[in-house]
Amino acid sequence: MADGPMTEPFAVGIERLRTEALAALGSIGDTTALEAWRIHYLGKGGLVTEELKRIGGLPPAERPAAGQVINDLKRVLNEALDVARATLEAAAQEVAAAREAVDVTLPGRGVDIGVAHPLSEAMARIEAIFVELGFTVASGPEIEDEFHNFEALNIPAHHPARAMHDTFYLDSGRLLRTHTSTVQIRYMEHHKPPFRIIAPGRVYRSDAPDPTHSPVFHQIEGLAVGPELTMGHLKSVLKTFLQAFFERQLALRLRPSYFPFTEPSAEVDISCLLCGGSGCRVCKNTGWIEVLGCGLVHPAVLARVGIDAEALGGFAFGMGVERLVMLRDGVPDVRLFYENDLRFLKGIGTCA
Ligand code: DAH
Repeated sequence: MADGPMTEPFAVGIERLRTEALAALGSIGDTTALEAWRIHYLGKGGLVTEELKRIGGLPPAERPAAGQVINDLKRVLNEALDVARATLEAAAQEVAAAREAVDVTLPGRGVDIGVAHPLSEAMARIEAIFVELGFTVASGPEIEDEFHNFEALNIPAHHPARAMHDTFYLDSGRLLRTHTSTVQIRYMEHHKPPFRIIAPGRVYRSDAPDPTHSPVFHQIEGLAVGPELTMGHLKSVLKTFLQAFFERQLALRLRPSYFPFTEPSAEVDISCLLCGGSGCRVCKNTGWIEVLGCGLVHPAVLARVGIDAEALGGFAFGMGVERLVMLRDGVPDVRLFYENDLRFLKGIGTCA
């Protein structure tokens, strides 16, 4: 029965359907269109099912052959569908793989390694030099009271030195310390001499920023208390420190000066770093550059913290860290330290 005669139009119609379906399949580029194609031809209400329904209208003798032809069509279309689906999936996988691909032959991006801020670097170095000289590192609060910032340092209310400090006062009556000399007092309050300390830290003054002023800057305070300490000891410590910091031989000059908390007081000059003392633009033709203030601790300061000024003495000094780095590295403007321009932070002087 299977090879019985059948009407030409049915077989021709099936053949046309097959050609059309395969052609349509050939132009499909994505899985959504593929699913639409499947529903259109092979779905429950699809064209192949339509043809299947027509079999009932054929003469009984032709039905088996017609059924065979449609089954063949179904198999061919299903196989073609499987192939097309596999091809699309493989192509999609290739695209995804290409998108996620890592080209291991490309040069790496490189990690930018940070460096210590020039001020941090300088402070660490200054600390290291003083530690070698037997000093320990002390610290104190940045928010202070009048007692530690002024009174205990022999600067009573209405003393002219207060006016020079341009203090930031807080609503609480406290203030932002104007110098690290506060740490002298705090240390002496709680430690028994003899001792040698330095106290690095931030200080604040209500100054408008300009090339040599900043409302926040850094100081390093030094204090030694013990029996028989003289200006000679002070000068020797400072000379050793300054020569180590600037990495060269220097001449030192102690110029009489005035600080309420030291007596005698001196300003320390070093021979000019640029001209060596013969006179130039940097030293304003004097041959000398002022670098710090110092003196012997005033007996009134020692007495205020309960140290017997008859038996013990001390020397003290204070210096601005920014100023030292500016002199050493030729930094022309103190504001460069706070602007965070990477060209400056990465290599001192390159931004000048
Ligand atoms: N405190 C002073 C200032 O801020 C610096 C100073 C000078 C500190 C002399 C000292 C010193 O300990 O002996 O200007």
